[in-house]
Amino acid sequence: MSTNVLPLTAYNFYLNGEWRKSKSGKTINITSPYLNEVIGKVQGITTEEVDEAIYYAHEAQKIWAETSLQERAKFLYKWADQLVNMQDEIAEIIMKEVGKSIKDAKNEVVRTADLIRYTVDEALHMHGESMRGDSFPGGSKSKVAIIERVPLGVVLAIPPFNYPVNLAAAKLAPALISGNAVIFKPATQGAISGIKMIEALHKADFPAGIVNIVTGRGSDIGDYLVEHAGINMISFTGGTNTGIRLAKKAAMIPLVLELGGKDPGIVREDADLHEASKHIISGAFSYSGQRCTAIKRVLVHERVADELVAILKKKIEKLPVGSPEEGNTVVPLIDNRSADFVQGLIDDAIEKGATLVIGNKRDHNLIYPTLLDHVTEDMVVAWEEPFGPVLPVIRVSSDEEAIAIANQSEFGLQASVFTKDINKAFTIANKIETGSVQINGRTERGPDHFPFIGVKGSGMGAQGIRKSLESMTREKVTVLNLAE
Ligand code: NAP
Ligand code: G3H
Repeated sequence: MSTNVLPLTAYNFYLNGEWRKSKSGKTINITSPYLNEVIGKVQGITTEEVDEAIYYAHEAQKIWAETSLQERAKFLYKWADQLVNMQDEIAEIIMKEVGKSIKDAKNEVVRTADLIRYTVDEALHMHGESMRGDSFPGGSKSKVAIIERVPLGVVLAIPPFNYPVNLAAAKLAPALISGNAVIFKPATQGAISGIKMIEALHKADFPAGIVNIVTGRGSDIGDYLVEHAGINMISFTGGTNTGIRLAKKAAMIPLVLELGGKDPGIVREDADLHEASKHIISGAFSYSGQRCTAIKRVLVHERVADELVAILKKKIEKLPVGSPEEGNTVVPLIDNRSADFVQGLIDDAIEKGATLVIGNKRDHNLIYPTLLDHVTEDMVVAWEEPFGPVLPVIRVSSDEEAIAIANQSEFGLQASVFTKDINKAFTIANKIETGSVQINGRTERGPDHFPFIGVKGSGMGAQGIRKSLESMTREKVTVLNLAE
């Protein structure tokens, strides 16, 4: 952190409806991953300011929870409209801050507006239920239980850098429409995009205190936030190690974790290889593989492996590489440390005998798309999540072997199965230990109303619009005892 005089590009944090500089006097430089220059500074706030934000959130939530669903819906619809109005400005910031192509950045903003609207619509159509006591043996007809969903209070929303707007709003929208207040701690690399998203929310005139954005490094204020007695629920998306640390600290607080992945693309002998390769390439290399749902290994039947690898190589040769401003698919990684990590995986595999098909070229944090064939189980790249543009191919001799290697992973986010045999596809899907299995398609989260689930090291609980609404509310039972 620097303590320089704040230049114009210093963004304030948002507390009780006001934009503020931190009393710490500290700011954090945000360096663009491809411009390699500081594009702005965000406030490194103090723990006292965290306390203040949580205090105001609780005050605001009491009133917000009492307002009607329709009233809350109006604010959220306005927020979605403001995001659409600001899409060019926000997309430009996303591109500069996290190095996503301008087209993908714009898609992220528009997808977010759609997600907010759908979340509102879903909430408007969620109803409670009632039960008569005499539906249980010996129960009485005079007892009627009314079961409703009520908000949890103050939700702590922590997204990762790679979808700084969409994965933040996927937490804020369900929390808000359900009557919760939010403390939003953006990823530091992604904080300016998050602030821009909150500017749109500010324009929608939400009540003061209902959303507060607290900026600061996770290593400085993360534990303090997670352990804070004023937090009633945590929705976290990020790396598995951070998630595990957070889960230990959160103790009894309701928690949804969406974490890392090592999604396999399983290619059966009977697959349409051209079709499969299209999904594998887009799955593995879009945004340089910096997606939790990227295809991060290919498990291909040995009888079609040569052909598949040849097709993949041809497609990789044509992948546009370079600056996100020119709409390239493979762009510089978020920072040099990430590029070093990916390079280490490539080096280890080559050293242990993997065949380099294409790639292994690097320019600072830009790693060219890399395809490694004949990857074996002793290589680190067979198991670790690279979050970069490297795709290992592991040859297998049967479905059973593919399933065994797929399930040996510590992760369990998604998997793809490519085959023309729908029965085999279902047999494999049933045996794969992941939250979702895609048949003849790339691994991906959307559409955003589908349940999105990570198991094992990939998470706990579920996202997806309806699931998020459920996780940010709890059931409350009121029993009416009628006169007999
Ligand atoms: P990360 O390093 O784990 O950071 C995620 C978030 O946690 C950031 O906001 C970070 O803040 C914060 N954080 C760090 N330390 C913390 C602490 N002690 N307490 C509370 N919060 C803390 O992950 P990332 O590099 O941003 O994202 C990449 C990872 O996210 C990959 O593993 C990817 O697979 C995963 N991911 C998963 C999903 C999914 O839905 N399954 C979606 C997207 C990404 P700072 O930035 O300030 O450190
Ligand atoms: O990075 C993780 C995201 O949840 C992936 O979303 O599949 O829409 O790219 P996506």
